[in-house]
Amino acid sequence: MTRITLLLIACLLQVGCQPGSAADTAAPVPTMSVNELMVTVVTPATDTLWGIEDPQTDEDWQVFIDAADVVIRAGQTIKVGGTGPMDNEWAASPAWDAFADRLIDAGLDARTAAETRNIEAMFTAGEVLYPPCEECHLQFHPGMQ
Ligand code: HEC
Repeated sequence: MTRITLLLIACLLQVGCQPGSAADTAAPVPTMSVNELMVTVVTPATDTLWGIEDPQTDEDWQVFIDAADVVIRAGQTIKVGGTGPMDNEWAASPAWDAFADRLIDAGLDARTAAETRNIEAMFTAGEVLYPPCEECHLQFHPGMQ
């Protein structure tokens, strides 16, 4: 996942199209379904965060800051809902909201870790990031591996 691709995703999610801009705090307006967001936005960003190897330069670390921003914004977006048939019903559930909050929190941890270039904290954030995926799928998308 290149920085440009992540920036494009960030733009799509209305995070802001300026390199280095922090995630917007205003509620996002979903422009795609939860499923599309999972496949085209969440998965590439989390693959980047889980695929961390040995970042050295500012550019290397920026890739992870950008990926964390995408995860944060994706979490904020699914809290609002999406364009899929079930999305708004899901988003109205307190359990959904709690899973989305855990996704956002893990994204914030990853962002802090990347900003402070703390590789151990990156791995920890990656571990914290996974359970909400699994638990939310178990409840709202059963049958997914
Ligand atoms: C708040 C709940 C929630 C969280 C958190 C969540 N997902 Fe999902 N995810 C869903 C739902 C619901 C679907 C199915 C949407 C549909 O079918 O319309 C889905 C679908 C997916 C799909 C598509 C799978 C398929 O069967 O087509 C992928 C890939 C995915 N999620 C990845 C992730 C990853 C990776 C994470 C964690 C970083 C994550 N999701 C976190 C709710 C969640």
